[in-house]
Amino acid sequence: MDIETAIDRRNGEFINNAKAQLADLAPYSTDALEWLMMEHYQFSLANTRFLAAAAEVASGFDTPAVNKELRRNCDEEDGHAPMYKVALKDVGLDVETREEFRSTTRFLDRIGELCLRGEPSAMLGTMFATETAAVFEHEVFRDVTKEVIARRGHGDRAAPLVHYHDMHLSGIEQSHRDELGIFLRGLDPAQPLAPTDGERPSIRPPAALDGAEQAIAAMDAWWSDLFDELRARSVCAAVA
Ligand SMILES: [Fe+2]
Ligand SMILES: [Fe+2]
Repeated sequence: MDIETAIDRRNGEFINNAKAQLADLAPYSTDALEWLMMEHYQFSLANTRFLAAAAEVASGFDTPAVNKELRRNCDEEDGHAPMYKVALKDVGLDVETREEFRSTTRFLDRIGELCLRGEPSAMLGTMFATETAAVFEHEVFRDVTKEVIARRGHGDRAAPLVHYHDMHLSGIEQSHRDELGIFLRGLDPAQPLAPTDGERPSIRPPAALDGAEQAIAAMDAWWSDLFDELRARSVCAAVA
């Protein structure tokens, strides 16, 4: 099994588990789902910072290909968080009034640390894992958004928010994932050092796998806390 497939397997377990908990949104209160949307915005807000840091670390590789891809990705994300913020405001959600959720802070700090660890192969594994999860996040947040729109009767007001997720699902996130996956494809996770191959820099597969595993563990822990809070907020709403 090559390293891209190995990382996808681990990510698949985390993603399927999270998706299963959002397959039926009926048990969750509207307020709780709106809270969840604002937590997702926090990742968007931090994303260009992560990508810029990761691109910097990627300049430590012996070819410029990964740095180029991360800079392309960073440029593409530029302006997305403000767009998301406005689209949320259109449906009455003001991210400026959000109260800090500690687990989100811890998660973002952890991803920041993993990007900046300075070991290019580990950073590549981390970024590949998070870009893979971004596809799943836009899929589930598109569903959550549609549910909230229907319950609140938002109608056309919510079009920019639906568009925001659709836009990411129409190829942006898939290409971020795939263009990083190319560098990991065919590499044996047990090989200590894979030498340069054309554009591909020399990569340490065990470090890349480790970077991905640490990122998946961080995402899994964050989502687990998000689900606990989502349920707690939904129970409170049912009692009130
Ligand atoms: Fe984006
Ligand atoms: Fe992305």
